[in-house]
Amino acid sequence: ESQPTAPSQSLGPEYRPATQKPTATVSKPVPHKNVHILPQTPQLIALLTMIRDKNTERADFIFYSNRIIRLLVEEGLNHLPVVGHEITTPVGRTYAGVKFEGKICGVSIMRAGESMEQGLRDCCRSVRIGKILIQRDEETAKPKLYYDKLPEDIAERWVLLLDPMLATGGSALMAIEVLKSRGVPEDHILFLNLIASPEGAKKFADHFPKVRVVTAFVDQGLDEKNYIVPGLGDFGDRFYTM
Ligand code: PRP
Ligand code: URA
Repeated sequence: ESQPTAPSQSLGPEYRPATQKPTATVSKPVPHKNVHILPQTPQLIALLTMIRDKNTERADFIFYSNRIIRLLVEEGLNHLPVVGHEITTPVGRTYAGVKFEGKICGVSIMRAGESMEQGLRDCCRSVRIGKILIQRDEETAKPKLYYDKLPEDIAERWVLLLDPMLATGGSALMAIEVLKSRGVPEDHILFLNLIASPEGAKKFADHFPKVRVVTAFVDQGLDEKNYIVPGLGDFGDRFYTM
């Protein structure tokens, strides 16, 4: 099946002449206002190259995924509102700064989403984390909801929803429905994701335009088994078992 052409970009520091910069495939742009793609830096592309490689073994897959997850969490936190906060420094000067005001929580879509919990904890000490167990049927790719355990005051929190793969969008959209049914306003949900398909990104834009999606990369598409291509295979299997 023919895929639309992948955008490519030459990568490397500005001081390098163009002839010494390699060309690499970068994220597809998307026209959806609620979908934010991380800057396609040489670091990010090198990290993604590691985790996409089928020959990367589990310990490295975990290490490099964790680095991308950290970038996603840091960028995701930039989408939360802040208020002005003036402080005094040890040398007696004031500094006009900001601070985040409000409560947050993480919610991971099990199993693969649990891989992103540590990255969130590294940035937000003692953050509460809820869980939603949704599994895709291996034949039909339809999601099934098995279980959820969420903070009882989740409706008053900003929610960072965690899942590394957004393929058909079925699992993530189901998770958003669960959050909404517990009273979380759509515009208080941020979906943090490593690799999205254009189809999944569009589903979010069409169904939940107020949910912000922060992703590292929008890939070319889906194959006949609804795997993301070029993708990285089954994230949960590679992180937890292979
Ligand atoms: C994977 C992935 C997402 C979902 C994406 O999980 O982690 O949750 O598939 O596909 P979708 O957008 O088409 O719904 P899977 O159900 O394979 O379970 P796992 O997390 O246990 O690997
Ligand atoms: N889940 C994955 O882990 N990978 C895909 O490509 C699609 C769904």
